Amino acid sequence: MVVINYPHDLLAEVRQRVAGRKLTGFTPGQGLLHPDLMLVGEAPGRHEEVHNIPFSGASGKELMKMVASIGYSRQTIYITSVVRQRPYSVKRVKDRQSGKIITKKPNRTPTKGEVLAFAKLFDWELGQVDPKIIVPLGNTALQRLLGPQANIGELHGQLITRPIQKATADGQGYQWTTDSYKLFPMYHPAAVLYRRKLEPTVKDDWRRLGTLLQHK
Ligand code: URA
Repeated sequence: MVVINYPHDLLAEVRQRVAGRKLTGFTPGQGLLHPDLMLVGEAPGRHEEVHNIPFSGASGKELMKMVASIGYSRQTIYITSVVRQRPYSVKRVKDRQSGKIITKKPNRTPTKGEVLAFAKLFDWELGQVDPKIIVPLGNTALQRLLGPQANIGELHGQLITRPIQKATADGQGYQWTTDSYKLFPMYHPAAVLYRRKLEPTVKDDWRRLGTLLQHK
């Protein structure tokens, strides 16, 4: 199992592009190289920022249950997300106990520009990891790979073999790869935490992925 070591030039480029944005920490992707599965989330949350382990917070616990249900673990897959720093917003709220106005920095969804700023780093990581199947978790990861029209509600729970988006050489946009990749999109585990009704669907999707891997 490895914690990925990103090239300095790509890191420097990202740092320059995101300067001044509300992004903090840096959680590298980690796991097995050349695995059956590469799980791709959105961005680290507060728990990940502190512990530096992708998907180690509340969503991560949900996710790991699903991973275990098909016989895999953190050690036998690779886990990352399309943005490697925690996006936050700044909120001034009244503290319940003291009544004082305090500043909070809750997690937020990364913007399209932030996803693009990390695109070359992600492309490099995908090349190193070289998984059999990419599992985009939720719309942010799915749209990064399959474009803005892709929708998790339509594409979850099925194997898709298609070219994916990669950053252009100047890093200002995306282009389609000439090769096709295998993807199996899933709902983001946080969606299940907010909408318990989704749980049977998500369990069924993971069961399908498990069956597919048994016949690979
Ligand atoms: N959500 C993500 O997309 N990635 C994490 O690592 C944690 C929460």
